Amino acid sequence: MNTIENCKIVELPKIQDPRGNLSFIEEEVHFPFEIKRAYWIYDVPGGQIRGGHAFKKQHEMIVALSGSLDVFVDDGLNKKVFQLNRSYYGLYIPSGIWRQMENFSTNSLAFILSSTEYLEDDYIRDYDEYLTKLKKKL
Ligand code: TYD
Repeated sequence: MNTIENCKIVELPKIQDPRGNLSFIEEEVHFPFEIKRAYWIYDVPGGQIRGGHAFKKQHEMIVALSGSLDVFVDDGLNKKVFQLNRSYYGLYIPSGIWRQMENFSTNSLAFILSSTEYLEDDYIRDYDEYLTKLKKKL
């Protein structure tokens, strides 16, 4: 089973240039899965919370391409918060972790790379159900 210790901040390449900086991300190099889907969260009104759920199978990589947000992770035993506020850091979250995104700054843009297509069956949206499913290893 994955724990919050398996959630990792990854520093991405940053090519500094007087014309503007450039960063990039590559599957299997900066995170350990093949990309099946990318989605992004933006125009988040102040105080809103996104993503209070866990995935049974999906792994993901979250990059704050613009602005900042906090990602709260929880494995049923321990909790941790990662502050994403640079476009050259990604947060890798493996499957089986409860995660929630909060404190989106104005104009923030959260870009998420996912190891699966959109599968509603892969979501666990109820925290008590998550704790129960954890005991059965999801
Ligand atoms: P959801 O992942 O539930 O967002 P949050 O966890 O932040 O509340 O997605 C919100 C809605 O968007 C949900 O009805 C499903 C839809 N959706 C897709 O159709 N495809 C996708 O790739 C994603 C991420 C969501």
